[in-house]
Amino acid sequence: MEKQRTGLAVVTGASTGIGYALAQNLAERGYDLIVAADEEQIEEAARQLGEGARPVRTDLATPEGVERLRDEVLALGRPVDVLAINAGVGVSGDFVRDNDLAEELRVVDLNVRSAVHLSKLLLPAMVARGRGRVLFTSSIAATAPGPYFATYAASKAFLFSFAEAIRYELRDSGVTVTALLPGPTDTDFFARAEMMDTPVAQAAKDDPTDVAREGIEAMLADKDSVVTGKWRNKAQVAVGHLASEQVKARVHAAQTTPEDRPGTR
Ligand SMILES: NC(=O)c1ccc[n+]([C@@H]2O[C@H](COP(=O)([O-])OP(=O)(O)OC[C@H]3O[C@@H](n4cnc5c(N)ncnc54)[C@H](OP(=O)(O)O)[C@@H]3O)[C@@H](O)[C@H]2O)c1
Repeated sequence: MEKQRTGLAVVTGASTGIGYALAQNLAERGYDLIVAADEEQIEEAARQLGEGARPVRTDLATPEGVERLRDEVLALGRPVDVLAINAGVGVSGDFVRDNDLAEELRVVDLNVRSAVHLSKLLLPAMVARGRGRVLFTSSIAATAPGPYFATYAASKAFLFSFAEAIRYELRDSGVTVTALLPGPTDTDFFARAEMMDTPVAQAAKDDPTDVAREGIEAMLADKDSVVTGKWRNKAQVAVGHLASEQVKARVHAAQTTPEDRPGTR
């Protein structure tokens, strides 16, 4: 018997980690997929996800790359039922004294700019149709200043705020918006961000499959946001509501300071 199809889901950053797990969870629920990422691995990821998955290899840190994904979605001629804006990168180190501006701007271009751009390109049709679900991958890093990954934490705070704001604007539209706030999760993220010499990269992490499941369940239940994973993630966010930004910066720094800055830990 042919499997009942649920609709079309678009997932960015779906070649590895949380994005791949989001795509896998949606495929298991019967969604056809458009899965996007920058490197060749997205082709293999799509094969693993099954025949309903279509890869789009595109650099979402560029406006042309975002438009290319939009064009691929339009070319399919099907409405988007689920949009998971998940692709993201980080960069570790002292913003002023160590880090390269181009790398910092790539974090902003991918995590912030492309999320706004893709939302603007794909959400109007979802709203016109009066249905759809949107999931933004933010982070618990959104809830505190992030010394030694300042741009990253700020980018995730942007996404959290942006998701909550457009959720409100779209409250009567039939389109729901949810922010996913994972804690440290066992993916390639820390190696790619060159954070392996930080305490957070060496600590125990959550499984991306569990993070994705919690995120999709929250999205389907129309929750505004979900902090996934271990109890300590939820505790960190809850305590954060009571602490000053200065205190949170100091606590966060204990997790994100690279080894070559031990005096500041
Ligand atoms: N891991 C954690 O602890 C953690 C915690 C909270 C939030 N998050 C967030 O979760 C999301 C997924 O990260 P992850 O942990 O799953 O890390 P990951 O395994 O490194 O996945 C990142 C994904 O983004 C894609 N990507 C990177 N640059 C891209 C670009 N320019 N254009 C298109 N795609 C691009 C990567 O594909 P390519 O390799 O092909 O570029 C990959 O599919 C990110 O937004 C991250 O900030 C992660």
